[in-house]
Amino acid sequence: MNAQSPVNLSVLRAMSAEKQRIACLTAYDASFASVMDAAGVDLVLVGDSLGMVIQGRGATTAVTLDDIAYHSRYVAPALSRAFLVADMPFLSYATRSRALDAAQRLMQEGGAAMVKLEGGREQARIVEFLSERGVPVCAHLGLQPQLIHKMGRFRVQGREAASADAMRRDARVLEDAGADMLLLECVPAALGASITEAAGVPVIGIGAGGDVDGQILVMHDMLGVSPQARSGRPPRFVRNFMDGQPDIESAFRAYVEAVKSGAYPAAEHCF
Ligand code: KIV
Repeated sequence: MNAQSPVNLSVLRAMSAEKQRIACLTAYDASFASVMDAAGVDLVLVGDSLGMVIQGRGATTAVTLDDIAYHSRYVAPALSRAFLVADMPFLSYATRSRALDAAQRLMQEGGAAMVKLEGGREQARIVEFLSERGVPVCAHLGLQPQLIHKMGRFRVQGREAASADAMRRDARVLEDAGADMLLLECVPAALGASITEAAGVPVIGIGAGGDVDGQILVMHDMLGVSPQARSGRPPRFVRNFMDGQPDIESAFRAYVEAVKSGAYPAAEHCF
């Protein structure tokens, strides 16, 4: 694998098979995207976290398809190597036809190579429908921020044996439905490891321990500038990579190196 050649799904699958860790970050504009691309980030996500870190809202549910398409459109041309994933916002995949329209916009207007949607087995039919039409899908399991108004608060998912088993089954169902990647948010490290072990597709984690195929962080969190990071009480899995670094590109490089070497996440970042 040439370190400079563009990352695509086969490269990501090979990295997973060869146990080369995948370094991922969110980005929302051309400037940061091009710096992280140069720093060796393998995968960039235009996440609906932009509702919080760009729009200053308390949740991701107000983010629209126009918002994600807008930001993706400027991130995409700034990447010469990294693989671009765009988030399907809240309710944009509530029906098959909405999901298809949303995926079409994110891939054609936004330039994304994959879309990400939240949910377990209840999304299998949507995943299958998109996948059969050539849309690469990342299924986001564990903590699903789009459900905040249903859940009331964010908390680690899959701590109990029954919910961990259900998540393992959901991961299998989604992969069988055609998901090309899984993303696990806020789950115990042992559950992250067992889902990764059983998966035939790359598994990316955020607060899912060190035994997944790759790590992702929200850029503003790892630079220490998100409201949560500045509150002094960032989520347990966040590490501030600006610490000790002279500039942002060095912080991105330090993150890539820490993910690749396995230094991040450390035990203190895991559940
Ligand atoms: O929206 C986002 O940034 C995400 C990450 C937290 C994985 O989904």
